[in-house]
Amino acid sequence: MKKEIFLLPFLLLFLMMAGCQNKEDAGNAAKSTLPRRNGQTEQATDYEQENSKTENQELQAMASESEQETDMETKTLVVYFSATGNTKQVANVIAETTGGDLFELEPVEPYSSADLDWANDDSRVARERENPDQREVKLVSVTVDNWNEVSVVYLGYPIWWGISAWPVDSFVKANDFAGKVVIPFCTSSSSDLGESGELLAEMAGTGEWQEGMRFSSGVSDEDVKAWVESLGL
Ligand SMILES: Cc1cc2nc3c(=O)[nH]c(=O)nc-3n(C[C@H](O)[C@H](O)[C@H](O)COP(=O)(O)O)c2cc1C
Repeated sequence: MKKEIFLLPFLLLFLMMAGCQNKEDAGNAAKSTLPRRNGQTEQATDYEQENSKTENQELQAMASESEQETDMETKTLVVYFSATGNTKQVANVIAETTGGDLFELEPVEPYSSADLDWANDDSRVARERENPDQREVKLVSVTVDNWNEVSVVYLGYPIWWGISAWPVDSFVKANDFAGKVVIPFCTSSSSDLGESGELLAEMAGTGEWQEGMRFSSGVSDEDVKAWVESLGL
């Protein structure tokens, strides 16, 4: 009997501890199984709310990063003068390949076939060639919308007597190319690019002028595309 009395407090203590443990388990079970809307548990819902807050913040950060990247994307402009359509064709392919905008340089007084008759000493081009002060051809526009956003300029022209056809001069003189990469391109029957690009670079005084490219008058679209892609811009 003495032994039973001695063991009784231990037995009571054991029973109390067992009771507490059961209550705690029951509480946890309630937390994890408490039904919520959509059949989710309370714990899962709290966690999900917290998590979705973080996800939203991450998405907002990504969106703003991508906006900044878009702002910094290369904006390409293909500027060209073309009297008989060959350079225009090349310009179109460059614009298609790069996704750039086109800007055609149009003389206020367009060149007729008679004007372009280089074999006639009295034609308009022949007179302009003889008198450099007559080469300042007035253009319909030399102003490009959002010019300051443009980072790469392809500048196209036909070769006239070994140099760039002078209607492009007015555009080159009127614009500031600072901070822009400029890639001259031309079409011709047989002449090379020659010094045409360098002379235009000198005329501009600003911009990172590249060597450029000459195409034959009847160049294929595939060849032009291949050249543009080879630049990797
Ligand atoms: C006035 C004039 C001068 C030309 N001079 C040359 C020349 O020096 N070398 C050459 O290979 N082609 C010359 N050409 C041919 C053009 O460069 C060639 O046809 C060019 O592709 C025309 O381009 P467009 O159709 O865009 O005007 C000349 C053409 C004209 C009208």
